[in-house]
Amino acid sequence: MVQAMAEQRSPNVHWHMGQVSRPQREAARGHRGAAIWLTGLSGSGKSTIAVALERVLVERGVSAYVLDGDNLRHGLCSDLGFSHADRTENIRRIGEVAKLFVDAGLIVLCAFVSPFREDRDWVRKRMATGDFIEVHVLASLDACRARDPKGLYQKATQGQIAEFTGLSSPYEPPLQPELTLDTEHSTLEQNVGALLAFLEEHGYLAARAGQPG
Ligand SMILES: Nc1ncnc2c1ncn2[C@@H]1O[C@H](COP(=O)(O)OP(=O)(O)OP(=O)(O)O)[C@@H](O)[C@H]1O
Ligand SMILES: [Mg+2]
Repeated sequence: MVQAMAEQRSPNVHWHMGQVSRPQREAARGHRGAAIWLTGLSGSGKSTIAVALERVLVERGVSAYVLDGDNLRHGLCSDLGFSHADRTENIRRIGEVAKLFVDAGLIVLCAFVSPFREDRDWVRKRMATGDFIEVHVLASLDACRARDPKGLYQKATQGQIAEFTGLSSPYEPPLQPELTLDTEHSTLEQNVGALLAFLEEHGYLAARAGQPG
């Protein structure tokens, strides 16, 4: 479904090459670009982790930016609802935006329920190996329901929200995420620390060796 929507309509558009390469942009920033894709149930802690990590990274001089599901639905994706097709189109758009951020050399933190494996895998395939870091933000449905930070579970249980992930719409957990963060049994600080350690250990916070000027 995503592929069909992503087809290019006009044969008359051509790629215009820039004069600055991605390695040059990364060298200027002093670190790699990458997309950290946080997926999980509503209330699992995606936004909370994303904004906390963004602050830590920016304080370290890293160019980081959060793309948040709720926020993007105020603008770029304000025309989309929560049907399967609209969720797929939502992730396609965000995936393309995230890809641009990565090309610009930023570490972009994407906080989206993104319940469908096929949609997340599509974004992964659109990016180069290593550019897409899938993070399963894990908390049980019961825990998310008990947290209910936005009162959405209560509304959904009362029948006021259709197609609510985990209740009336499926959530397909990642099969091979780069990282799983358990927010029920680990603190926010521990999870932010785990993500930071992952980025450090895999060389994301340093410019690539041997980059051309
Ligand atoms: N270890 C933890 N990590 C992150 N959040 C936690 C943790 N423990 C408790 N919480 C709480 O869980 C809630 C998570 O809410 P948050 O808005 O981040 O979820 P979300 O995954 O972004 O949901 P949505 O998909 O609806 O946007 C917050 O109230 C947060 O304080
Ligand atoms: Mg959120």
